[in-house]
Amino acid sequence: MIDNKKVLFSGMQATGELTLGNYLGALKNWVTLCDEYECFYSVVDMHSITVRQDPAELRKRARNLLTLYIAAGLDPEKNCLYYQSHVSAHAELAWILNCYAYMGELNRMTQFKDKAAKHTENINTGLYTYPVLMAADILLYQADVVPVGKDQMQHLELCRDVAQRFNGIYGDVFTIPEGYLGKVGAKIMSLQDPERKMSKSDENANASIYLMDDPDTIMRKCKRAVTDSLGCVSYGEEQPGIRNLLDIYCACNGKSTEEAVKEFDGKGYGEFKMAVGESVVTVLKPIQERFTQLSTDKAYIDQIIKNNAEKANYYAQKTLRKVQKKVGFPERIR
Ligand code: TRP
Repeated sequence: MIDNKKVLFSGMQATGELTLGNYLGALKNWVTLCDEYECFYSVVDMHSITVRQDPAELRKRARNLLTLYIAAGLDPEKNCLYYQSHVSAHAELAWILNCYAYMGELNRMTQFKDKAAKHTENINTGLYTYPVLMAADILLYQADVVPVGKDQMQHLELCRDVAQRFNGIYGDVFTIPEGYLGKVGAKIMSLQDPERKMSKSDENANASIYLMDDPDTIMRKCKRAVTDSLGCVSYGEEQPGIRNLLDIYCACNGKSTEEAVKEFDGKGYGEFKMAVGESVVTVLKPIQERFTQLSTDKAYIDQIIKNNAEKANYYAQKTLRKVQKKVGFPERIR
């Protein structure tokens, strides 16, 4: 608890450009959470180097992501937006937790298996202990809730197991976090393969709408979206493409599915796709404008980065000191 509020922690990697799916499914909802929770949103650059990165590119993307957080509506006075690498306690706690996580547990992580299969030339130990660093992220802030996608649930479970193990030995040190089960955002699927999630790492550029796509690109991608030959706009199992477009349309303009289906009754897919594209453009335009404007204000962003890193550091140190004492590290002489 911080100031009588529960604590919420989440992180995003700065690899790949954010998609409309990231926005409608996560970011958009994060914006509303700061009234109820004390929120920490980290740009997890330390996780990013588990896969080889171009340094200049990583730095740029990390900054863009943090700027985009703000452009999308996260108020940096009310949410702690910071770089993971600016708070060294993440690395320090991760080391300690490494000594409480079992290889047997890490061996079961499906994301590690997937990534190891994909990067056979660089199966480094950081990739292996990635979930332990993630546990450190969460536990450092004594987070109560962690909004994560399904793909991160296994990591969150590991975090809970390690925290419980640690608490079992040393007493109540860590808050045991829960997955965030509040109002979940729309799950947006690929425009080219509506059975798969829209992903920032999709090789097919037409599959995802990126937050920074210009209006023409957005319209073109919507027009090319995979549909079916049924020819009617309805929300059925057998029309995953149309359903996804309806989800996008409704998430963008707040209409209900029924309303939207009624609106396009008897209309063709062409017209429907145009309307979907326009609704996306309308949502993204102000975010893009704000992003461009913020990007020119270096001093403002720098100040946010500095202040929020200090704030994060303050809470992280509190937990780290407690943990260091519990495991038997000697007290600091002042
Ligand atoms: N691994 C997460 C992802 O790729 C990002 C992440 C890192 C995270 N640390 C976290 C998410 C802590 C939630 C909490 O999506």
